[in-house]
Amino acid sequence: MPYKILKKNQLGDSGTLFEMDLHTPLIAKKAYAGNFIIIRINEEGERIPLTIADYDRENGVITIVFQVVGKSTLLLSHQNIGDELLDIAGPLGNRIHIEKFEDPIVIIGGGVGIAPCYPQAKELKQAGNRIISILGARTKNLIFWRDKMASVSEELIICTNDGSEGIEGFVTKPLRELISKQKISLVIAIGPMIMMKNVAELTSGNEGLPRVKTFVSLNTIMIDGTGMCGGCRFPSKDGEIHFACVEGPDIDGHIVDFNILLNREKRFAEFEKQSYDLYKKKCKKFDTQ
Ligand SMILES: Cc1cc2nc3c(=O)[nH]c(=O)nc-3n(C[C@H](O)[C@H](O)[C@H](O)COP(=O)(O)OP(=O)(O)OC[C@H]3O[C@@H](n4cnc5c(N)ncnc54)[C@H](O)[C@@H]3O)c2cc1C
Ligand code: FES
Repeated sequence: MPYKILKKNQLGDSGTLFEMDLHTPLIAKKAYAGNFIIIRINEEGERIPLTIADYDRENGVITIVFQVVGKSTLLLSHQNIGDELLDIAGPLGNRIHIEKFEDPIVIIGGGVGIAPCYPQAKELKQAGNRIISILGARTKNLIFWRDKMASVSEELIICTNDGSEGIEGFVTKPLRELISKQKISLVIAIGPMIMMKNVAELTSGNEGLPRVKTFVSLNTIMIDGTGMCGGCRFPSKDGEIHFACVEGPDIDGHIVDFNILLNREKRFAEFEKQSYDLYKKKCKKFDTQ
């Protein structure tokens, strides 16, 4: 079944961030916050996991947001409205736990991780929660969906490393202030592994601040997304092995051994570079780097 691209937008002006609407009625019908899809662009395409960043059940549409980081995401950025993707598997992964909490929930999105925060904030708000969102990126051009996130948040805090918008510094700066000033029921952090590690450390109760339950969304390498290949496995601090695709992708951040994950992140870097360089050589029309 072909999956048509209905909308494509560049987000910001970095040339690396894109939003796409895909016609996928069956997936849209069953999608919830926390779910992801695995797409193949064409017969030779590798499988790329991407979060369902929004869904419209009535029109049978899901939205993805992706950052160009290598060959497949560059190839995806070269697809246009009306083009069809070869296949999409999903929805995969678990829906996030939805509950009405007493105190506010802090949702933190770093870089492209802002997109998966939106459905989580939306569904938790619909359940009656108060949401404080923190969006962070290196610079303001990499922040997107300000209005969408504001529409599901009581408070929206922006952070940039270079101070070009909002608070200058990392997302942990306002988070530290929030959890030292008021009771927070839950923290959700989605973004680069190092950001999720630092957030989980801050909320662990070992930093002189109250311990706050924290979920992180693990973007380990995934191939099948259904618990069979072992690509996404990770050890928890007690040495037990877990599978991010079927147990997550949202996992209790306090059990994750981030140091091992950070080491494993770059294990295919050389092959990824070769494949990217080869594609760039073949491709005459690339317009993003
Ligand atoms: C559950 C989940 C949800 C994700 N959601 C999003 C999203 O919404 N938007 C987004 O931009 N990115 C998302 N990612 C990451 C995305 O899958 C990778 O950026 C993409 O596969 C890179 O492919 P590439 O060929 O362009 O880059 P490559 O050159 O192949 O790899 C670049 C880097 O991307 C990561 N990567 C590569 N292949 C995979 C893979 N099969 N699974 C996971 N990571 C991989 C690695 O860290 C690698 O170093 C998600 C990953 C997971 C596991
Ligand atoms: S992606 Fe294969 S086991 Fe999780």
